[in-house]
Amino acid sequence: MYQQSVTSVRSRNDRLALASGRRPAACIRTFGCQMNAHDSEKISGMAREMGYELSGDELTADLVVYNTCCVRENAENRFFGNLGKMIHRKNAGEDFVAAICGCMTQQSAAAERIKTKYPLVDIVFGTFNLAAFPDLLLETLTTGRRAAEIRTEHGEGFSDGLPTVRERAFRASVNIMYGCDNFCSYCVVPYVRGRERSRPADSILREIEGLAGSGAIEITLLGQNVNSYGGAGSGGFAALLGEICRVPGIKRIRFMTSHPKDLSDGLLDRIAGEPKICRHIHLPLQSGSTKVLARMNRGYTKEDYLALAARIRERIPGVSLTTDIIVGFPGETEEDFGDTLDAARKARFNGAYTFVYSRRAGTPAADMPGQVPKDVMNARFARLLDTLNPIFLEENRKLEGRTLEVLVEERSPRGEGFLTGRTDGNAIVHFRGEAGLIGSLADVRVTGCRTFYFTGELC
Ligand code: 5AD
Ligand code: SF4
Repeated sequence: MYQQSVTSVRSRNDRLALASGRRPAACIRTFGCQMNAHDSEKISGMAREMGYELSGDELTADLVVYNTCCVRENAENRFFGNLGKMIHRKNAGEDFVAAICGCMTQQSAAAERIKTKYPLVDIVFGTFNLAAFPDLLLETLTTGRRAAEIRTEHGEGFSDGLPTVRERAFRASVNIMYGCDNFCSYCVVPYVRGRERSRPADSILREIEGLAGSGAIEITLLGQNVNSYGGAGSGGFAALLGEICRVPGIKRIRFMTSHPKDLSDGLLDRIAGEPKICRHIHLPLQSGSTKVLARMNRGYTKEDYLALAARIRERIPGVSLTTDIIVGFPGETEEDFGDTLDAARKARFNGAYTFVYSRRAGTPAADMPGQVPKDVMNARFARLLDTLNPIFLEENRKLEGRTLEVLVEERSPRGEGFLTGRTDGNAIVHFRGEAGLIGSLADVRVTGCRTFYFTGELC
């Protein structure tokens, strides 16, 4: 069906373009994480294959797709805020197709809300069936009726091999696994992305070879728990990294996210021994309290985490260690929070994503006693930042005067003549240079350090 639907929509759009002199436009808006961003690259790829021109303007596009996130409440609120714009256009009688996909549609309560409260939305599809998008689009274009398909089961390779539009040819994300089996008690991901499944190595390698052939030099491998690629304890991830290092043309390899309970010494040795693998490990701590970690179902203690962090720093000199931290998990006491601050001080993180706990219906934590009041959470959040930010600055200052290799990504928002790149450790560097350098690796001497970025000079 897929190819037939793509061809039919494409013929329709070609006819429209010929008749009006304007190709129909598609706007894909993404909420949430890198996984969603990569799904949106596939949705954009399908839209382009179906004869749409990609546009950033959801107020004029002929097809608007919202790729939703439900990991925290504020992502949901941002989406419902934006949905108002879509509905306003519909109420004004504008002729366009409105589609919603992503994690939120996989949650029955949210899917129900979209179905009943927003009948003007034309297409709804889930994370398990991205490839159904052309079929649903063709159905709604031909019948004028709503087309929806939310699956809770997936076929193997269900979204591998879809056409993809990448923002930058020199940098690409590649899924190595889907779903998550960890069931951290606060998290909706296992419910909306399903059971963990690893893509076959052959298929990943073929995709990366193809990307290298079209100019990619940096690859980011994506999975909720990349350390259990091929099965926890299988050593599959270290082996996969080794094979990817041998793909000609690939100069840098990143990956995220690692889970502390599955990160093996074998993997650390692989990273230490392969110069192409970036010296950056994103290792979510979530909480520094052993009691909270147990209620979060994380599978490690504060001491386990700190011992692992020390091992990482010892085996991979110069590594950048970043993390995710949640404050205000149900039952978190002042003492528990003190443990989080203590762990943050001891681990000396180079960067962190910090979150206020968000109660997610259907997760075990949502029903736990001791939900922490908003004002207490916010005060702890501010204290966490006050602890972390000086650490980031002190760690960054250690790099002052050093020459670092950066992948030059874009013109810098700092002003005319400035470029922005990323170091091996994933830090942002702003420096003066010609736009022709974008997409290449360059040596930059660090001349200034701030909490969240460096300034430098091209060598
Ligand atoms: N509340 C707050 N933060 C959350 N995360 C996941 N679920 C929640 C939640 N319910 C955070 C975790 C995870 C990151 C991607 O999002 O820190 O590592
Ligand atoms: Fe969510 Fe935990 Fe899985 Fe990460 S490892 S996606 S936090 S359940």
